[in-house]
Amino acid sequence: MQIGNLNVTNPLFLAPMAGVTDWAFRTICAQLGAGVTVTEMVSSRALVYKDQKSAKLLRKNEGSLCGAQIFGNDPQIMAQAAQMALEISGCDFLDINMGCPMPKIANSGDGCGLMRTPELASKIVEAVVQAVSVPVTVKCRLGWDKGSINVLDFTKRMEDSGAAMVAVHGRTRSMLYTGVADWDTIRKVKDQLSIPVIANGDITDGAAAVRCQKRTGADGLMIGRSVFGDPWIFLEVQAALSGKEYAGRPCLKDRIDVALQQFRLSEQDHGEHIACLEARKHFAWYLRGVAHSSYYKNQITSLNTMEDIYRVAKNVVRDLR
Ligand SMILES: Cc1cc2nc3c(=O)[nH]c(=O)nc-3n(C[C@H](O)[C@H](O)[C@H](O)COP(=O)(O)O)c2cc1C
Repeated sequence: MQIGNLNVTNPLFLAPMAGVTDWAFRTICAQLGAGVTVTEMVSSRALVYKDQKSAKLLRKNEGSLCGAQIFGNDPQIMAQAAQMALEISGCDFLDINMGCPMPKIANSGDGCGLMRTPELASKIVEAVVQAVSVPVTVKCRLGWDKGSINVLDFTKRMEDSGAAMVAVHGRTRSMLYTGVADWDTIRKVKDQLSIPVIANGDITDGAAAVRCQKRTGADGLMIGRSVFGDPWIFLEVQAALSGKEYAGRPCLKDRIDVALQQFRLSEQDHGEHIACLEARKHFAWYLRGVAHSSYYKNQITSLNTMEDIYRVAKNVVRDLR
């Protein structure tokens, strides 16, 4: 598959997730079979105002193709921010967020709010395409709510405005993350566009990936929440899509080694304090489904130093399986 002039040999996407898919976690997912990653969303205005925290979110990971994602609703600011995002990150493509449902963002016309103003969304894509030399992609939903599903018209417009790929999350804005993703509508999007279409929503394991692939005919699959604590899901999905047996996740000790690698990368990137706050969330996810882990999950909620992390990890490996 191609995204513009980019050759994508492994069209398994790690979904952009604010507060989750930072550089450390994207690096781990890329090592374990994600072919394409996307940064957490970054505000175009914050970038243009030279906010350092926002710029830091754009660090490109190794091991996969990586897109930089920005949000906003002003074509000129988006164009300027796109240039800056690429300068800062050296990312392979630029992704525009047209799917975020959070009220603060969508109600001010950013994120999924742009699905209510398709003409403005087109202007944004045109301005960004003009401003940068890498492919420009769009991530959107089915529409604002059940009564205004417009993803077919909307994605056609995005293609006509110069988008090189669309990723469609099969929910409306008002569904947030509830209900069931509608893969049949993603199939309709796929059937009408010439650019690649990536299916997103509810790909929870290898079997779901195979079903989603068949139902949507999509050029690639994008995995979000099911990767929490389970970056091996990309290997599982790869195996399922190629009809191979999946050996299962590695043993607890090896999984904890991967978690520790992530936390060390996180320390390099954010420093010890933030790395520990991030680890509180990720470490608990890594222990999901591990019998008798609640005692350690409690300790994880108050991790403050890397030493705390190493101590809990050692005890987990000693006591649990
Ligand atoms: C915690 C969280 C943060 C998210 N942040 C972003 C974001 O920054 N940009 C974006 O385009 N989508 C974001 N999303 C949406 C996901 O990329 C994805 O579309 C959604 O989770 C559906 O896929 P899933 O069913 O596999 O989780 C976020 C989702 C979650 C759960």
